[in-house]
Amino acid sequence: MTTNRTFTMIKPDAVADGHSGSIIKMIEAAGFKIIAMKKTLLTAERAGQFYQVHAERPFYGDLCGYMSSGPIIPMILEKENAVADFRTFIGATNPEQAAEGTVRKLYAKSIQANAIHGSDSDENAAIEGSFFFSETERF
Ligand code: CMP
Repeated sequence: MTTNRTFTMIKPDAVADGHSGSIIKMIEAAGFKIIAMKKTLLTAERAGQFYQVHAERPFYGDLCGYMSSGPIIPMILEKENAVADFRTFIGATNPEQAAEGTVRKLYAKSIQANAIHGSDSDENAAIEGSFFFSETERF
């Protein structure tokens, strides 16, 4: 069953480079409604919990260091077919393969510092949204 919500984070590189306003504007212009949003800092331990699914990957340690290197902006978004549409909107994980006009094509620096995250399933969108926002914050 598909839901109408997804989860995203603007990552440390994009926040530090001053791209968060432009990215949020793109998100809203693409028809996604912001349900929850904040600016926060992950510890390396919390980043490790969030990306636990990648714990066995060779890039896991670097990823945890990078994701805790500066503030991030997590958000819950709403739109029909949100998960799939948002992944199309942000582009491929590797910015070299990202389509023209996508957030990653515009702002990603590398496969790791790729500007933005988008949940890969409805189930993970719910889990990831709950990781950052309490029940009363995601109404
Ligand atoms: P994201 O879509 O948030 O999900 C997992 C993250 O791991 C990914 O974005 C990148 O930031 C990072 N990542 C994925 N593949 C690689 C890779 N091959 N090398 C380094 N980092 C990666």
